[in-house]
Amino acid sequence: MKPALDRRITTIPRLLLTPTTVGVLRLPNRMVMAPMTRNRAGAGNVPTPLMATYYRQRASAGLIVTEATQVAPEGLGYPDTPGIHTDEQVAGWQHVVRAVHAAGGRIVLQLWHVGRISHPSMQPGGALPVAPSAVKPAGQAVTPRGRAPFVTPRALETHEIPRVVAQFADAARRAKQAGFDGVEIHGANGYLIDQFLRDATNHRSDRYGGSLVNRVRFLREVAEAVVGVWGEGRVGVRLSPTSSLNDMRDSDPVQTFSGAARALASLGLSYLHVVEPVPGSRAFDPSAPRTLAAIRAAFHGALVVNSGFTASTAEAALARREADLVSFGVLFLANPDLVERFRLGAPLNEPDRLTFYGGDARGYTDYPTYRPAAEDVDATTRKRRVPA
Ligand SMILES: Cc1cc2nc3c(=O)[nH]c(=O)nc-3n(C[C@H](O)[C@H](O)[C@H](O)COP(=O)(O)O)c2cc1C
Repeated sequence: MKPALDRRITTIPRLLLTPTTVGVLRLPNRMVMAPMTRNRAGAGNVPTPLMATYYRQRASAGLIVTEATQVAPEGLGYPDTPGIHTDEQVAGWQHVVRAVHAAGGRIVLQLWHVGRISHPSMQPGGALPVAPSAVKPAGQAVTPRGRAPFVTPRALETHEIPRVVAQFADAARRAKQAGFDGVEIHGANGYLIDQFLRDATNHRSDRYGGSLVNRVRFLREVAEAVVGVWGEGRVGVRLSPTSSLNDMRDSDPVQTFSGAARALASLGLSYLHVVEPVPGSRAFDPSAPRTLAAIRAAFHGALVVNSGFTASTAEAALARREADLVSFGVLFLANPDLVERFRLGAPLNEPDRLTFYGGDARGYTDYPTYRPAAEDVDATTRKRRVPA
């Protein structure tokens, strides 16, 4: 592992470190660990003891959102991602949840169906992936045998859609059995739910396509079914209105996603988690419309924002009341003790991008926790000197 970067945090956040309540969950701080696929599940897409260690190390987050987890075999889109549709997978997740709870943390499972981002080589019987419409994404699928061109997916028949909604509800039930504190529905980043929401990928003419109400219907039905399993205050939804990831576009993201937020507002969700890159971050696109204010106005529950935040930009977003919590992806990946580092204004570890997706403990559970260098410790108080 590379040594810690001497990137001093000049702002020690105050609001970010204050407790809050999200739905029925009491959180000790407002720092959420963003969901991150790490492709380290075992045979049968079962969570492993190493995964339990990884999540336990990060238990000081206000809330952990797990990596995306497929709700059904058809929802699989990458090698070695965990599922939540078999008893073995539930047992594997039980170990993860117990480890996080024993360390004092809170953890929700991200429910995932990739839709068209899969490939026949990963589908039961070699079938075509399913999607709202037969629109092939540009780019390549990541299969167990390497990259392969995407295929044109098969458009779901109207009568099949309740079965897919039921897969989310079944997965939600299994997540409950595994002991999670709740679930987050993955409606972001160009996967199945997002494919229904945005008009570049939804060309349907039935009750699931066309008008905004119709494009939002699948998400609303999934959310209702999952809240039906968990009750109010334990189900979040993640959206990414302007992300182009997985070849996504929408002709009017403000309208589409404020409409989605409005449709979700009365369902008893615990939070909405919105990916909208902040200026200055790598994913920021200056030409993309800003959707957050319209979403905030339409949804009255807790709002978690994400993408590109640092301690100081996160603190500023909370101070401006643009959001109630902030999620951090790569920073939590590389800093298991991110909360403590923020509290101390300590330097951060450098992420190793080569070990993000797949592999072993390297770049996964071996990022060091912070130890102040001798010259940084005040000789009298024996505490780390806080930067001015
Ligand atoms: C390795 C990696 C895996 C990711 N996997 C997921 C995922 O499973 N589900 C999801 O919604 N977002 C996923 N993301 C996106 C992150 O949740 C987050 O939106 C992104 O890293 C930007 O936040 P950051 O700037 O704080 O890292 C992933 C990001 C990374 C770096």
